[in-house]
Amino acid sequence: MSEKIKVAVLVSGGGTNLQALIDKEADGQIPDAHIVKVIASREDAFALERAAKAGIETAVAKEPQQVMEELQKSGADMIVLAGYMKVLPKEIIERYRNKIINIHPSLIPKYCGKGFYGKRVHKAVLEGGEKESGATVHFVDEGMDSGPILLQKAVEVKEGDTPEILQRRVMEQAEWKLLPQAAQMIAKELSI
Ligand code: GAR
Repeated sequence: MSEKIKVAVLVSGGGTNLQALIDKEADGQIPDAHIVKVIASREDAFALERAAKAGIETAVAKEPQQVMEELQKSGADMIVLAGYMKVLPKEIIERYRNKIINIHPSLIPKYCGKGFYGKRVHKAVLEGGEKESGATVHFVDEGMDSGPILLQKAVEVKEGDTPEILQRRVMEQAEWKLLPQAAQMIAKELSI
C-alpha cells in the first residue's frame, strides 16, 4: 500500500471544519490522507485545542515566512484551508500549486472575494434576499476565492433565518461534508 498523503490544515477560528476532517479521518472516510499538522494564524484559535485533543501537532504562524517554515517542517504534501482568514503568500501557492483547497461558505461566484468571510457572507446572502446559499470547495490560486471549483452544495435559506442560523445550516448540511470529501479526492489523486 502506498504512503498516505500528508495534510497540513490552516485555521483561524473555531475549527468546526477541522473537527469534521479529524472525525472523518478517524472513521476511515479519508483513507488516503493523514493530518500531520494544524497551523493557526492566531494563538487564541479554538481549532488549536481541537487539534491538540486529537493528538495532532500544532503551530501558530502569524507571518508568511513562519507559515512556510512550519509547512516545510511538517513535510506536508497538501494544504487544506479550514476557516483560514489570511491570504496565503505567493511562494506557498506556487510551491503547492493544485494542492491547496479552501472551503468558502457560499455558492461561488456569489458572495465571495474581498470582504466576504465568515458570518459576513451569510448576512449578505440574507440581505440579498436569496432563496438558497451553500458552500464551495475550490483550489486556491493567487486571487481571492477565484481558483477552480471542486465541489459545491446548495442549502435552503429559510424564512426568519439569522446569519447565525444560516451559517449553522450551511456548515451542517454542506461544509462538514464537502471539505472531507474534497480532501479525500485530492489525496487520492496525489497518491496515484
Ligand atoms: C466556515 O464557515 C468557513 O467556510 C468560513 O469560515 C468558517 C470557519 O468556521 N471561511 C471563510 O469565510 C473563508 N473565506 P470553522 O473555524 O468553525 O471551520
